[in-house]
Amino acid sequence: MSATSLNNREFQQFRDMIYEIAGIAMGEAKRQLIAGRLSKRVRHYEMDSFSDYFQLLLKDKAELQIAVDLLTTNETYFFREPKHFDFLRERLRDDLRGGTQPLRIWSAACSSGEEPYTLALLLAESLGTRQWEILASDISTRILDKARAGIYPLEDAANIPQELLHRHCLQGTGQNTGMFTLEQNLKKRINFRQINLNGTLPDVGMFDVIFLRNVMIYFDQPTKRQVVQRLCAHLRRGGYFFVSHSESLNGISDELQAIRPSIYRKPHA
Ligand SMILES: C[S@@+](CC[C@H](N)C(=O)[O-])C[C@H]1O[C@@H](n2cnc3c(N)ncnc32)[C@H](O)[C@@H]1O
Repeated sequence: MSATSLNNREFQQFRDMIYEIAGIAMGEAKRQLIAGRLSKRVRHYEMDSFSDYFQLLLKDKAELQIAVDLLTTNETYFFREPKHFDFLRERLRDDLRGGTQPLRIWSAACSSGEEPYTLALLLAESLGTRQWEILASDISTRILDKARAGIYPLEDAANIPQELLHRHCLQGTGQNTGMFTLEQNLKKRINFRQINLNGTLPDVGMFDVIFLRNVMIYFDQPTKRQVVQRLCAHLRRGGYFFVSHSESLNGISDELQAIRPSIYRKPHA
C-alpha cells in the first residue's frame, strides 16, 4: 500500500480521531483530503503506511496536535460577511456603548486572526470611550501562532476601509516589506488562546458579543447543539451571537432569538 492513499480501516481511524477530538465530521468525500494533508507527515517520518502514522499519534501528543492542525480548514479574511460588521457598528454606537465594565467580544474560531482584528478595527472606530477586550480562540496552535503575529500581505487589506487602514495599520519595512499589521495599541487588547469548542470550556467569563462563524459547517447536528449551548452560557443577557450566513441555529438553540439572518440575541429575561 502506498502512503498516498488511505485504506478503509485507516480512513475510519483518522475520521474517528478528528471527530472525537474536534467534533469535525468527515464524510467519504473527505478521504482524499485526509490522505493529502497527512501524507507529508508520513513522508517526514519515512513511514510505509498511514497505519504507522496513526500508531504514532496514539502516543505522541505533539504530533497529534500537528495532525489536528493539518485537518482543520482555516480559510478566513478581513471584513468577511460585511453585513455583520455594519450591524455591529450600529450596536456599538447605540446599546453597546454604555456600561462601566469593558465590552467583551469572543471570536470563537478565529483562525489566522482576520476576524478578531476586523473586530478590533471596528471597536477602535465606533465604540467611543468604553474600554474593550477580545478573546480570540481556535483549536489549532499553528494557526494561532500566525494570528498572534498578525502580519499579512498588503493585498489581504483589500476589504479594509481606507481610513481604518491609514489610522490603525502599519506597513512593514525591511523583511516585512509588502506586509502590514495592526498598531500595537489594538493588538494588545486581543487575547489569543487555544480553546477546543468540542469539550468543557475553560473559565473565560461572560461576553457581550460572540462570533461563531464558519466552523459549525464542520460539525454534525448533536455537536452543533452542544457547542452553541456551551458558548451561550458565556453570553450576557441582551448579548449578540453571530454565525455565518451559510449557517443557522434553526433546531440548534431555543435560547437565542433570531433578529436578522445569521444574527441572534439572548433575551433579557
Ligand atoms: C474556516 S475557519 C473560520 C474562521 C473565521 N471564524 C471566519 O469566519 O472567517 C474555521 C476555524 O475553526 C477552527 N476549529 C475547527 N474545529 C474547532 C474546534 N473544535 N474548536 C475550536 N476551533 C475549531 C479551525 O481550526 C479553523 O481555524
